[in-house]
Amino acid sequence: MSETSVLVVDDIANTREDIKRLLYFEEDISVVGEAGSGEEALRLAENLHPDVVLMDINMPGMDGITASEAISTKMPDTAIVIVSIQGEPEYLKKAMAAGARDYLVKPFSSSDLAETIRRVSNSYRIRAASATKPPVTEISQEPDRPANRIIMVFSSKGGVGRTTLSCNLAVCLAQETRKKVALVDLNLQGGDVAVMLNLSPRGTIAEMVQEEDRLEYSLVNTYLVPHMSGLKILPAPLRPEHAETVTASHVEEILTLLKNNFDIVIVDTSPLFNDLNLCVLEMADDILLTFTRDLPAIKHVKTDLEVFDTLRLSKKVKLVLNQSTQDYGVKISDLEKSLNTTPAAIIPYDEKTVLSSINKGHPLVLTHANSRIAQIIKTFAKGFEPPVTGDTAEITHKKSFINKLFS
Ligand SMILES: Nc1ncnc2c1ncn2[C@@H]1O[C@H](COP(=O)(O)OP(=O)(O)OP(=O)(O)O)[C@@H](O)[C@H]1O
Ligand SMILES: [Mg+2]
Repeated sequence: MSETSVLVVDDIANTREDIKRLLYFEEDISVVGEAGSGEEALRLAENLHPDVVLMDINMPGMDGITASEAISTKMPDTAIVIVSIQGEPEYLKKAMAAGARDYLVKPFSSSDLAETIRRVSNSYRIRAASATKPPVTEISQEPDRPANRIIMVFSSKGGVGRTTLSCNLAVCLAQETRKKVALVDLNLQGGDVAVMLNLSPRGTIAEMVQEEDRLEYSLVNTYLVPHMSGLKILPAPLRPEHAETVTASHVEEILTLLKNNFDIVIVDTSPLFNDLNLCVLEMADDILLTFTRDLPAIKHVKTDLEVFDTLRLSKKVKLVLNQSTQDYGVKISDLEKSLNTTPAAIIPYDEKTVLSSINKGHPLVLTHANSRIAQIIKTFAKGFEPPVTGDTAEITHKKSFINKLFS
């Protein structure tokens, strides 16, 4: 195997020396440069093209987060590992959003350091190798199992938990599979995805469709906001009056581009049967019809099922019962009789976990990974995982960075 080249960035010369000493006996890892500031790191990274950058956070001048953002934008094939001291979780989350792939907390052993370097560079090699493979559409597919799928989370009634489900499902799939997962917020007048994931988008779908008559993936890509789980998000407009700039043909173009470039595309929607949603309903491989255990929601879901039947979409539909209210609703057995079908998932009521995760902007599948609600969403997500390749299987067995961060 070829050597992994490393650039060490820290403003304290002694720390850089310590890191070099720790790596001295690792034959497959070589330190090719060292930088004492963010500016120098950026310059050296451009010249040396290292496989891995070990980045300190607090440095005078350009800090490690700004430098990470610049390096990951300019050199997407360079993996950044943040080297931090205890008690900087907020910085770590920012660093992840800036494109860092892993982190090490000082003090660490030489085996921790070497193993982290090998792991991130290995995952980047796998990613680079798969990027040179033919487009997924040309790879033979299992019948009835699309290689790239669009999952639409829908309900004709508002407030039933679509956004909670969309965000957690998307984060969970990005995190567990390490595949390319995108989340599109098509609730154009009242999208909450960015808030629920604690993102501050600079641009949204509304500005994006204004830029060019014919959309290209390179443009869409610049509007995708990364989440620390690896998920990419296309946010909804920041103001309701900007919603009308987005048309159904924009939606068709955007989803086609995303489907060609992502393994899984999840779409959160508005509670309407309008032309935009009809376009998504047509394009989706799965429609997660979300509802709650109260009579108005059940009335809606019955009508929705009839509409899907008329549109010949029934095969794609999976019912998701979200128990977003306490247990004095309709009995599940009565509900199944009335709908003549069984929900594919029943998400339990857990106001405390859901609200605290929404208010902090941290998806519950990460922050409350052991709660019953998170476990049920994770199990449900498993059904949408793309087939596991040997390479991916090996990576997913390692304890992930995000889990370490929240543990
Ligand atoms: N399983 C649950 N247990 C407890 N509360 C829940 C649960 N799921 C959702 N909620 C609550 O329901 C509210 C609505 O959830 P969410 O915003 O996900 O629904 P929505 O269908 O996207 O709504 P909107 O129509 O506004 O887009 C949330 O504020 C959350 O507090
Ligand atoms: Mg919503």
